[in-house]
Amino acid sequence: MTNIAELRKQINYHLYRYYALDDPIISDAEFDQLMQTLRDLEAQNPELITPDSPTQRVGAEPLESFDKVTHVVAMTSLANAFNDEDMRNWLGRIERRLPTWYPRDAVEFVVEPKIDGLAVAIVYEQGLLKQGATRGNGLVGENITANVRTIKSVPLRIPATPDGPPPPTRIEIRGEVYMPIKEFNRYNQQQLDLGERVFANPRNAAAGSLRQLDSRETASRPLAMFGYGVGYIEGAELQTHWDALEYLKAVGFPVNPDIIRTKNFDEVLEFIRQWMDKRDELGYDADGAVIKINDLTLQKYLGLVGNAPRWAIAYKFPAREATTKLLEIRCNVGRTGQVTPYAVLEAVNIGGVTVRQATLHNFEDLAKKDIRPGDTVLLKRAGDVIPQVVKPILEARAADSMPYQPPTHCPDCHEALSHFGEEVALFCINAACPAQLVRQLEYFVSRPALNIEGFGVKISEQVAQAGLIHDVADIYTLTKTQLLSLEGFAEKKADKILAMIDESKHQPFDRVLTGLGIRYVGSVVAAFIAHAFADIQALQQATQPELEQINGIGPRIAESIVDWFSRPANRTLVQKLRQAGVTLSSSKVEPTAPQTLANLTFVITGTLPTWGREEAAAFIQDHGGKVTGTVSKKTDYLVAGEAAGSKLEKAQTLNIPIIDEAGLKKLATE
Ligand code: IVH
Repeated sequence: MTNIAELRKQINYHLYRYYALDDPIISDAEFDQLMQTLRDLEAQNPELITPDSPTQRVGAEPLESFDKVTHVVAMTSLANAFNDEDMRNWLGRIERRLPTWYPRDAVEFVVEPKIDGLAVAIVYEQGLLKQGATRGNGLVGENITANVRTIKSVPLRIPATPDGPPPPTRIEIRGEVYMPIKEFNRYNQQQLDLGERVFANPRNAAAGSLRQLDSRETASRPLAMFGYGVGYIEGAELQTHWDALEYLKAVGFPVNPDIIRTKNFDEVLEFIRQWMDKRDELGYDADGAVIKINDLTLQKYLGLVGNAPRWAIAYKFPAREATTKLLEIRCNVGRTGQVTPYAVLEAVNIGGVTVRQATLHNFEDLAKKDIRPGDTVLLKRAGDVIPQVVKPILEARAADSMPYQPPTHCPDCHEALSHFGEEVALFCINAACPAQLVRQLEYFVSRPALNIEGFGVKISEQVAQAGLIHDVADIYTLTKTQLLSLEGFAEKKADKILAMIDESKHQPFDRVLTGLGIRYVGSVVAAFIAHAFADIQALQQATQPELEQINGIGPRIAESIVDWFSRPANRTLVQKLRQAGVTLSSSKVEPTAPQTLANLTFVITGTLPTWGREEAAAFIQDHGGKVTGTVSKKTDYLVAGEAAGSKLEKAQTLNIPIIDEAGLKKLATE
């Protein structure tokens, strides 16, 4: 039986491999399994939960407001350069100030992509994450510790690496919290599907997500972080900025792998140009490069000018904007039936990419900006983000232009569209609408849900359009002959897809819940639900007030869940999933043993002769009993082994029956 501390260490290491290095060494399923084991162990032994446990990333209670944090070392801003000449002038200013003891050819530069996110300072004490703060005005920021803890690439304890250096007494790590472009696009798509607000760019997404008073909300946002410096460190010495970055990497803090170091200033400029050219491939939205003097002593010597250091400069990339003609406004149908508008444009080149379509977010935004077909519009593109229409150029508007009228019928199935309550969003409520089915299927098979590899957008469209499926559960009845009738399918591919579909039946309950696409139930909320409910039947029967009792579920989510299960088509879907053999219960609750210990509460203490404590707890739970961490009047039995301490004493004073391992086995079989 695995030792809990060892298991936690293992999980933290896998999180580091996955999020900091982007190089996992186990599958998602294996990882899920480890996490589930840890959750189970912690549920049985709450006294063993530690603040750096990966289960403890999400705090339960929302804050009233953020406390203020005064920065020990001010967080300055950066001066800007816009071209090579500005850069050479900066170098000239540094050279003129170089002390006589510093040879010009010893000056080294570090060049880093400038990520457009939010600056954050994180303090670790004796290796433990103690505080996370925003930059604020540079002197005083906001305490966002609970939110920072939810960012999976941020270690809760350093070193997160098995062979890292011992933790320093104190260190403040500075860096940029950002939303990777892929995640940003996915998140916005999901928001659109839900009829919720979208973020205009990854920067707003990062800032908005970090400023949530409810850290559960932040946890549901796909944020990441790169460290780019050390504010201060006690208990270790750093000579250069490069050393600082290497140090961060060594303790398992994520550092941007694209950073370079050189003495050659032409190379500095060359790197900046390269990034500028391939900024779409970086995976994050970079709005420039930051060039820093490497030597920390020299940095200190050069000091500040105003609010910015002399030893660093930001080279800003040109904004990627263009104007073009908006030919037509068309609409898409999302997973929940929500209809959203997008712009069809006269092709235009923005920063090397030809743009023909742009998002218009939603009808409210469209009306507010009064964007009309035929308008000349300003477009903006950031990273690989879907281009956006910023505003119409009113000066260029035709005299006979008319405001845009949202559609009244579904662009796909042509049924009449509806509004819900106060919402401005338009929905197609035809359950048989083919466009919705494709989106639902795409989501069901996607990575956070059933994770059916190889079953992408294209196959979702193919099977839906061929009429092979009518709801997502129908993928479990797909046959080889059916698949072979689709374009591009040969024997091998069909076999592989069918095998993957079959395997997905074993995905854990929370992933299936995620895949159902219940509004507001993403993977974080699904995990809370799977933890609280033994199976889908219990969830289906839960009332709204009951649901609201559950950690992680508020009124909005509770209402949405009740609403989802109230629809007959959804209940049929659940029934079909059950028949297909998909996991619809939390693995730990399937009773296999006779429930002889039902209604009894146990506490385990000391070393048992043959069982580990976790094993004993699992035995008790298998037999229907409950295990808690502290002895109280509610405890029915104390299971005591060798070297039992204060719990034994307490049980004795409370007159609680004390049994040993053999006694426990006997009790269960009686
Ligand atoms: S260094 C004194 N490095 O850019 C140096 N900043 O005005 C302080 N930023 O909001 C910052 N990437 O959050 C540094 N590699 C990087 C950066 C970076 C993005 C942000 C930073 C701050 C702004 C500087």
